[in-house]
Amino acid sequence: MNFNTQDCTAIITGASSGLGAEFARQLAAKARTMVLVARRLEALEVVKAELVSRHLNLNVHLVAADLSTAAGRAMLTDWVRQSACQPNLLINNAGLGDYGMLASATQERLQAQIDVNVSALVLLTHALHPQLQANAPSGVINISSLASMIPMPELAVYAASKSFVTSFSEALAVELEPQQIHVTCVCPGPTPTNFSKTARRKDGSDTDRNGQDLLRIPSAQVVAEALAGLRAGRVCVFPGLGVSIAGPLFRMIPLALLRWVLRRRFNKGRLRYA
Ligand SMILES: NC(=O)c1ccc[n+]([C@@H]2O[C@H](COP(=O)([O-])OP(=O)(O)OC[C@H]3O[C@@H](n4cnc5c(N)ncnc54)[C@H](OP(=O)(O)O)[C@@H]3O)[C@@H](O)[C@H]2O)c1
Repeated sequence: MNFNTQDCTAIITGASSGLGAEFARQLAAKARTMVLVARRLEALEVVKAELVSRHLNLNVHLVAADLSTAAGRAMLTDWVRQSACQPNLLINNAGLGDYGMLASATQERLQAQIDVNVSALVLLTHALHPQLQANAPSGVINISSLASMIPMPELAVYAASKSFVTSFSEALAVELEPQQIHVTCVCPGPTPTNFSKTARRKDGSDTDRNGQDLLRIPSAQVVAEALAGLRAGRVCVFPGLGVSIAGPLFRMIPLALLRWVLRRRFNKGRLRYA
């Protein structure tokens, strides 16, 4: 099943920066209407101004909502139901990470990762499913991560939350296919956005960046490959050459070997920081 973005009505979460803003830019030439969602209205307004200055016929609506809360999610779904907009593309992109060990994390950051990366993605998809079904053929893009392929000490909750997204998306793709709703899960590697700035803790805790340069590609390429994957009916997209090799490879590593590598990498990192 293929999805055509021509004249689509897209809801993009996390559209105030990074990959979400880039999805808006790349869809703008084809979409009829876009609903951009994030907490920071002023940042959304900057994105909107750029889009409407280049695409005069494009309708852009902004919804400022904290998707980590039930009230924020209801604000978006109520807005969609009450507006005349008929979405046929949902891009679940909002997300955040938290670099460092579990023991030194704050409860708020741990909860926020689960609430945004997991709960918001599932509950928005569920709440907006009637609209996606009514306007089919439709598409759902779920932004997961290469981190969903392996457990990641010092990024444990984030990687686990993205494993959830990848697994959920694979199952959902099967469930929704008969309804002509195509689901594409995107697993980017490290991408220059505001992600690291948000994920870095005040105490300086960071993640091990060894090997990341081989996987890093610009956000424009991540989004172009994600949209091409959706159009081509692909269920899982690993953007960039390095990630397209690493992702499937990580899946094949025997668990005993993976545990050995993770422990070794973690202990080397500890020595470096000691
Ligand atoms: N960059 C990477 O290396 C990388 C790699 C793999 C996967 N990803 C995934 O890509 C997605 C986009 O991240 P990014 O890299 O573009 O990072 P980013 O520049 O930090 O963007 C994150 C977006 O999520 C929004 N957001 C965060 N918390 C929110 C909340 N409670 N309610 C509503 N919106 C919220 C932010 O908007 P506000 O702050 O305005 O609310 C922002 O628009 C995430 O799911 C991330 O996990 C990123």
